[in-house]
Amino acid sequence: MTRAISLHHVSKSYARGPRVVERLSLDIRPGEFLVLLGPSGCGKSTVLRMIAGLEEVSEGEVRLDGEYANDLPPSERNMAMVFQNFALYPSMTSRDNIGFPLRIETPGADPRARVDATARMLGIQDLLDRFPNQLSGGERQRVAMGRAIARHPSAFLMDEPLSNLDAKLRNHLRAEISKLTRDLGATTVYVTHDQAEAMSLGDRVAVMRGGVLQQLGTPRTVYGLPANVFVAAFIGTPRINLLRGIVRAPLDGAMTISLGKQFLRLPEPLCLDHQLLRVQQGREVIVGLRSEAVRLARASEARPGEVAITGLVEHVEFQGHEVLVHFDTGSRPALVPELESPRPSRPTRRRRRDGTVLDRLRGRAGALRAGPVVVLDRPADDEADHPGQTPPEGRLPGDLVVRTTPDIDLRHGMQIPLLVDLAHLFVFDRNGERICPAPERLPDLDE
Ligand SMILES: Nc1ncnc2c1ncn2[C@@H]1O[C@H](COP(=O)(O)OP(=O)(O)OP(=O)(O)O)[C@@H](O)[C@H]1O
Ligand SMILES: [Mg+2]
Repeated sequence: MTRAISLHHVSKSYARGPRVVERLSLDIRPGEFLVLLGPSGCGKSTVLRMIAGLEEVSEGEVRLDGEYANDLPPSERNMAMVFQNFALYPSMTSRDNIGFPLRIETPGADPRARVDATARMLGIQDLLDRFPNQLSGGERQRVAMGRAIARHPSAFLMDEPLSNLDAKLRNHLRAEISKLTRDLGATTVYVTHDQAEAMSLGDRVAVMRGGVLQQLGTPRTVYGLPANVFVAAFIGTPRINLLRGIVRAPLDGAMTISLGKQFLRLPEPLCLDHQLLRVQQGREVIVGLRSEAVRLARASEARPGEVAITGLVEHVEFQGHEVLVHFDTGSRPALVPELESPRPSRPTRRRRRDGTVLDRLRGRAGALRAGPVVVLDRPADDEADHPGQTPPEGRLPGDLVVRTTPDIDLRHGMQIPLLVDLAHLFVFDRNGERICPAPERLPDLDE
């Protein structure tokens, strides 16, 4: 009853508008829980609706269990959709809401046994005689899930089914959805813009941006080996630190990455990944440091592979079990346009039309359709003098966020010694693609 779903070079444009999904290829295995993750407007719901048959595929193929399915009507796909705004019939009890699709499917049959079994599975036996306005949001969502499950679909398509609920209930239902879909063995495609939700639910996560798939991998892989700056910045809290740097690789001296006022000296002998950085000599790169790659400690406490820098405390965020410290290290952060402000602006699509011929060709090839992943305006060496630079809207001051325990007394303006663990160093090129760790020699984290 599970089902393989594959998309082969699927594109979508509405009317004569631009493509909102571009040459997307995905192979979803039977029984797999795949999450489509990306910011608002990146095309997640469109992809889900194309899988459901609710939206026409403009180009490419959707295959179900290997069979061409572009023209298959939704009713013949045996899939259940669960939406964010789960609409229950207000004049029907939970029992009738759950049983309704069964009665439509097989008129004359008594759905009672199926409804009862479904209700037991969801723990809502006691709610079956209530009407929707007598249920809480979470209970209503469970009834809506019941309605989807009772038909024994071969696949679930869920579009942000939890986003209307409060955080506690969301966590609870998240665990339930995970267990339920696994127990049923149904293939599930789950759409969300919440990276934590994606990481906790998915067997694999497909990260999208501007209609283009950025990376497909297990939660471990997309976190540990992000393909580009966008994926690195979208996944993980606190957000990865992205600092603009320049590789300095003199023939007769140690290789360093200059971060403006300070530098990271790469330990010798250079590991293979760091050796590969030599070709970047003199070039601008983006250094990515997750908060766990940096700790508060003196240079004398450095372990092998750690290098010392210092940071000026700009802001301290108390979180109970830990503290997030925002430091100014004198470098300039690299900006990922869609992720900087709370309301992502998406001007890139229109700009592409007026761009150069090369831009347009790139766009057609699907490479840079949604504009650059990262914006580097002035050269990084400019960075030493930027007094009074105000952070972009939505960003806190400082260029480096580090986690620490709450017992350390830190105040604004203190200069603190830091150790950077270069085993956790990411380096991206100026287009935002990851160059270190190098893609080709990686241990396969999916195994
Ligand atoms: N019927 C439509 N006609 C024209 N454009 C559409 C239509 N539906 C969606 N779009 C556009 O397609 C793009 C992708 O929309 P989609 O709903 O798939 O995004 P999403 O990733 O689900 O976003 P959100 O997280 O906000 O739900 C958006 O730019 C949207 O404006
Ligand atoms: Mg959507």
